[in-house]
Amino acid sequence: LAERLVLGIESSCDETGVALVALPAQGPARLLSHALHSQIDMHQAYGGVVPELASRDHIRRVVPLARQVLAEAGRALPDVDLIAYTRGPGLAGALLVGAGVACALGVALDKPLLGVHHLEGHLLSPFLSADPPEFPFVALLVSGGHTQLMRVDGVGCYEMLGETVDDAAGEAFDKSAKLMGLPYPGGPHLSKLATEGRADAFELPRPMLHSGNLDFSFAGLKTAVRTHLVRQNLLDDTAALAAAETRPLLADLAASAQAAIVEVLVKKSLAALKATGLKRVVVAGGVGANRLLREQLDQACARRGVRVHYPEMHLCTDNGAMIALAAAMRLQTGLAQPTREPVFDVKPR
Ligand code: KG4
Ligand code: ZN
Repeated sequence: LAERLVLGIESSCDETGVALVALPAQGPARLLSHALHSQIDMHQAYGGVVPELASRDHIRRVVPLARQVLAEAGRALPDVDLIAYTRGPGLAGALLVGAGVACALGVALDKPLLGVHHLEGHLLSPFLSADPPEFPFVALLVSGGHTQLMRVDGVGCYEMLGETVDDAAGEAFDKSAKLMGLPYPGGPHLSKLATEGRADAFELPRPMLHSGNLDFSFAGLKTAVRTHLVRQNLLDDTAALAAAETRPLLADLAASAQAAIVEVLVKKSLAALKATGLKRVVVAGGVGANRLLREQLDQACARRGVRVHYPEMHLCTDNGAMIALAAAMRLQTGLAQPTREPVFDVKPR
């Protein structure tokens, strides 16, 4: 069997990603090229993703990005053997753009289609890194919409160990940041501001740290951040929040919030490792780009002889490469059931 080419399209939220992955007859899949357009600048003025604008922008970007990845890889559209797209979860209208374009290409080229679960893409993305993991491992999936711990025994063999009962870790970063008057998406901004602050300046809750299970809860943290801002007379006061003299206080609050989120993520990951007896952990999703999380998890795991794997920094947040890769790995393990029927079966939830 010759090498197969997988085209991956991601359009679940506010990034349009397209990638081309090669799947050799034997051995791991390789990323040939990938291209990304982030809508962050467009949504920033609204303080969050505007679904209608997101869909419209995906429509504008997806074909040029596909042309770009094919050109960069020196391939043509008819060379593609499988067209993969994000089936969900995500924004319905945004997902429909990727699915619609994928289906149209599939019909026009008479090529099979495969809808991919967005989180499986994140989960498998570390396999594109220079130091890919081996099965089995514990996965910590931390994105803007999800926070989950999973036991992963192979492609498609996922056992949920715990998840958030309310907000996701990324949401905790984003909502706290928004309260502090930081731009969207708050995670990276809050984390940057935190470098100027003291992590022990504010007392913030570590919800469910001792719950005895592997679930998370982050809604209380956002409420606590709000309470501190009310006490300082800063809540919703845009001018005061942006004032230079407020910055040290906000930096302290940012550092304290980040420390609380990271501590819970690290301790629960260690608990999952202990519960499963596994010696390997994979971190994926946008919050996996957080430096403090990486530092603290690396330190804690080094002491316990546990190996930690991350996706390449630029593949932590949404991208097409992880969608093409997940499809390729499913194909390789015989799990994929590609279809030539364009069914537009997006699953927003
Ligand atoms: O995986 P992702 O790109 O999209 C979803 O599938 O949700 O994750 C986006 C999330 C956002 O909440 C963003 O604030 C967060 O990841 N994020 C970070 C950092 N970079 C991205 N959070 C904390 N620190 C970062 N450096
Ligand atoms: Zn994502």
